[in-house]
Amino acid sequence: MKTKFVKKFAIAGALMAATAAHATDVEVLHWWTSGGEAAALNVLKEDLQSQSIGWTDMPVAGGGGEAAMTTLRARVTAGNPPTAVQMLGYDIQDWAAEGALGNLNDIAAAEGWNDVVPAPLQNFAKYDGNWISAPVNIHSDNWVWANKAVLDEIGVAQPHTWDEFVAAMAAAKAAGKIALAHGGQAWQEMVVFDGIVLSVGGADFYREALIERKRSALESDRMLEVFKRMETLRSYVDENFSGRDWNLASSMVINGEAAFQIMGDWAKGEFINAGKVPGEDFLCFRVPGSEGSMTFLADQFAMFNVDSAEAKDAQAKMASAIMAPSFQIAFNQVKGSVPSRTDIDRSVFDICAQKGMADLAYANATGGLVGSLAHGHGQPAALKNAAYDVVTAHFNGEFDAAAAVEELSAALESM
Ligand code: GAL
Repeated sequence: MKTKFVKKFAIAGALMAATAAHATDVEVLHWWTSGGEAAALNVLKEDLQSQSIGWTDMPVAGGGGEAAMTTLRARVTAGNPPTAVQMLGYDIQDWAAEGALGNLNDIAAAEGWNDVVPAPLQNFAKYDGNWISAPVNIHSDNWVWANKAVLDEIGVAQPHTWDEFVAAMAAAKAAGKIALAHGGQAWQEMVVFDGIVLSVGGADFYREALIERKRSALESDRMLEVFKRMETLRSYVDENFSGRDWNLASSMVINGEAAFQIMGDWAKGEFINAGKVPGEDFLCFRVPGSEGSMTFLADQFAMFNVDSAEAKDAQAKMASAIMAPSFQIAFNQVKGSVPSRTDIDRSVFDICAQKGMADLAYANATGGLVGSLAHGHGQPAALKNAAYDVVTAHFNGEFDAAAAVEELSAALESM
């Protein structure tokens, strides 16, 4: 009897301990699977570990996060949402509207997030005035990454205008290099498109066309020029571009096979992870013509509804760790992004991040900051995906530029 009781008690105790340990863990769904991304994520894992918060990893590969969002939907439908989910822009708002997200108001108030998180990020991190997610970073996608040795070898300086950029790509191609390293996936074509829209018409045109969906902008000569520039870029990618992951395209620039890549500043994470030094081994500059404006996106960790007090506590601790200034520095140095707080000293960052921070401040002060359509900060998922389809179909030769203008206007339900 006694042994049975002791045994039972011991099992119950062990179960309780296991539950308690589990409750202070976080299960995190994310799509940070490249070398640079994984290195950045480790900074977060280690930070949480030092606070005795365990990490259950739920990676779903695929830049842009489309596959991760599909997995998330399945998990929530099955009644088993992860604790925290990497999420972008309108997706956060959509989940909040479904009532699926928790509330971070207490920790946000205690730590004064209202005062340090820039307003354009708060617009996505709050729903009905309540904090629902913690912004880790600010990325932008109108960047070009260049191999400096390759440019030196072919005698080309950093291009500042569109024409100089085209001439540089022509020189690279003539020298037997791949001019533009590109991964043929719809979201990557959309990243390039973001930058080209800015380069043709600046932030006002971007806003009118892609955010406000004005027919006058969507069906303008400028949009025709955007698609023509996309065709020019298409002529400088190698024949194996189709389906290639973005980080493999970055590797082609890193190892000198290719001269340029147009990609968000997560690409810098790959260069850094490969031991490359900005300014010496590689150059970072805005898509020529888009200097002064910026398509931004912020990775945030949205916290899903959880029942137990322990699980809520783990979420609050994770959110607090994400917002800590020391973490913002350590993480973003590795990730390639810039901090999601306005009170971080720029001088601790490399020259690309310093430029990113200066560009952000300038664009924000001069109306040049726009939410990235490629990354869910321009439109909710349905319109974003409709735009993806047009841009990628055009890039793959299904329509000419004039037809693409019409198709995009229809896809975005222009007004
Ligand atoms: C973006 C995300 C970035 C990034 C990229 C490639 O959607 O915001 O953090 O790493 O995908 O995976």
